[in-house]
Amino acid sequence: VGFPVSADRCLKPTAGGGGAVEFDAASGRYVVSSLADARFILSNPDAQFARERSQGDEAGGNALETFIARGRELSRLWMWGSPPETHRRLRKAAAEAVGAKTVAAHLDALRDKARALLAQAGRMEKADLVEDFARPLIRDSLLDMFGIPPGKRPQLEAHLQAMSDFLKGGELGIGPGHHFAVAATGHIIAEAWSAPLPAEATAGRALLVAVEGGELSLDEATAQAILLLLGNSYTTADALSGLMARLSERPDLWAAARDGRVAVESIVEEGLRLGPPTHMVLSRRAMSDLACPSGPIPTGSEIALPLCRINRDPAAFPDPDAFDPERRGARPVAFGAGRHLCTGLHVARAALQVGLEVLLHALPRWPRDVEVRYGASLLGGTSVTAVRVRGAAIRCP
Ligand code: HEM
Repeated sequence: VGFPVSADRCLKPTAGGGGAVEFDAASGRYVVSSLADARFILSNPDAQFARERSQGDEAGGNALETFIARGRELSRLWMWGSPPETHRRLRKAAAEAVGAKTVAAHLDALRDKARALLAQAGRMEKADLVEDFARPLIRDSLLDMFGIPPGKRPQLEAHLQAMSDFLKGGELGIGPGHHFAVAATGHIIAEAWSAPLPAEATAGRALLVAVEGGELSLDEATAQAILLLLGNSYTTADALSGLMARLSERPDLWAAARDGRVAVESIVEEGLRLGPPTHMVLSRRAMSDLACPSGPIPTGSEIALPLCRINRDPAAFPDPDAFDPERRGARPVAFGAGRHLCTGLHVARAALQVGLEVLLHALPRWPRDVEVRYGASLLGGTSVTAVRVRGAAIRCP
């Protein structure tokens, strides 16, 4: 199992990063700070995706152990930690399932859901735009796309939450509890897919078509669905919540976006650059000497790529800490790059764009008495955990 979270979360992001690749003696890793080095490494086939091993849950004899072993098998089928050839095949099918076409077909439903959630929030005395808007918008849209029936959603959510909690512990957290949750999620998906899928289950259907066409086994399709649901479960809502909190401090930008003077798309991209959730740290292993633009990294080295530093490289992003949606030039690596470029980026961008657009109509201006709360994020760093406003401030969009 590979995951872009591990002990290297302890690497402290330095505002203003930049400079050469440095060896960090405390973690025994090379740390990358510049955008040019990051792009070079992420696109280099000799910078291998670092894999983490699961521990302590080898198959035993009883039903529980068999179930846990099933979860371990499913997570071994995730594209993430697979060897390059298998990764390419699995990734192709998964990327199509949540690709630009599928997402475009889902935009109206996404917009309707955003409006319905805000209408409901408007009827509350106090609404939390994280809990009552961002999270359900993003979670339910993906569950619709994978054909998970409403009655099974709370259970599936609990399993995804458990998986995320185990991953919070880094590689040590990946053990029997994690695999139990993977198996349970796989079970719910298999049940849902054994019945005819509803029209909106575009991603689920695409994976099943790949199974019929012999591109994937049914287990491989199920495993990618679990991974995509997990990949979605903590990232995009975090990004939308972060954006709402930033904009609550920038009434000028809110007004400019409402009048069309600043594109919502640019606000989304700048939000992704500064994060959350781009406080994640990616890891790679050098399989040959890597001649990075700002210095060499020798064969066998572990490499940490803290996105929060790379996306604040002052050589690429002047005045890097400023939230400036109108900046031009370099593109940040919010979704990674190269072979492991985020498979869910179309879903994420669409949800952020639509979510923000609908919110702009529902809140003519940010209410003065907004209450923003922060907490520790799964990916390290700080996330926005609540954005509370009076329901009366929300206009039914
Ligand atoms: C704002 C939201 C998101 C951000 C910032 C984000 C970021 C990333 C990054 C940086 C990577 C690369 C990891 C690496 O190279 O080590 C990645 C990979 C991945 N992401 Fe996302 N992600 C987001 C949303 C999503 C969503 C919505 C899904 C699922 C629908 C998803 C599924 C995945 C998967 C499956 C991979 C692994 C791809 C591979 O190994 O080929 N992500 N993501």
